[in-house]
Amino acid sequence: MSSKENLSVTSPGVHLGPTWLRVALGDGRGTGDFHYRWLRHQCDRARHPLTGERTLCSSELPDDVRPRRASLDGDALTVVWEPDGHESRYALAWLDAHAYARDRVEHLPPADVTAISVNAPEGITPGALDRLLATLDARGVALLRRPLPVAHPEDETEALLDGLCARGRLAVVGTHFGRIEDLRTDNTTNQNTDQLGYTDAGVELHTDQPFLEQPPRYQLLQGIRSADEGGENFVVDARAASRHLREIDRPAWELLTRTPVRFHRKQKAFERIVDAPILRDDDRGFFVRYSYFTTAPFALPFDLMEPWYRAWDRFARLVRDPAHQYRFTLSPGDALLYDNHRMLHARTGFRGPRWVRGVYFNPA
Ligand SMILES: [Fe+2]
Repeated sequence: MSSKENLSVTSPGVHLGPTWLRVALGDGRGTGDFHYRWLRHQCDRARHPLTGERTLCSSELPDDVRPRRASLDGDALTVVWEPDGHESRYALAWLDAHAYARDRVEHLPPADVTAISVNAPEGITPGALDRLLATLDARGVALLRRPLPVAHPEDETEALLDGLCARGRLAVVGTHFGRIEDLRTDNTTNQNTDQLGYTDAGVELHTDQPFLEQPPRYQLLQGIRSADEGGENFVVDARAASRHLREIDRPAWELLTRTPVRFHRKQKAFERIVDAPILRDDDRGFFVRYSYFTTAPFALPFDLMEPWYRAWDRFARLVRDPAHQYRFTLSPGDALLYDNHRMLHARTGFRGPRWVRGVYFNPA
């Protein structure tokens, strides 16, 4: 669950997050974020009436402690807990004195599609392509929108590639899918169509070709023909998600950056294996490899398997939250360009003759 989706207000000055709440600490004192477990553990009633000593060990609490409701009244925060309706009261002055996360700022993956959209009513002009590349640099993804219908976008593919490469930034990369990949269920030109992209099934978030030592840096997806139903695209900024995870759960983030995962792709006429962590964020820059359908069975020491799954799942749930995704549908003539070392991409299942063209690039 994400913090954004579940952040709700139960009374002025109190917000409920997925595992923590935010409370206004009073005039000029800012806000304090407190984990539910910490609050429940610190309950004012779990004290001996004579000595004031704590009577509760956190191990006695359920794993998923969370509030039924929380409210500010005067100078105290009141929380009613699930599942037993237990009530706790915390003086704001006490919370202020023990605030361990004051005025914390959340950096969540952005979802505003207008911020990545480049409107191109004139078609594939040099100006439109320059804006597309500038947006790609700033956001890791850019979406060329054609407000007027385009009858045969497939006739524009070469001009689009020439125009992008002419800017001196990008060079087309051929892969085992060929130079131009026609993603459609009736594809007959590619000998490696035994993968989800060539079906009408949904494909959840992934990076392309993580099983290569050096996956292609960019991918262009050009909309040629719409589906009758479904076929929505979505893209997530994995760099933002990784940095958010580092801020809320550093041990999970460190496991994901240190633990090699085996990516294994075996197709009719192709096989590759690479062992590499899914996240890297250091002085060499950010780099994500992520694909739930090409990871080999995890081979980790027994003592790491539980924390590993916890870390993987936490990252996956973060990026799979629609509130953290750019979501849109490619109309014929639209084109999506994204950084395959930074962004994750996906599509929903569909019905009908959807046709999307894919082309990879590396820096020229
Ligand atoms: Fe893909």
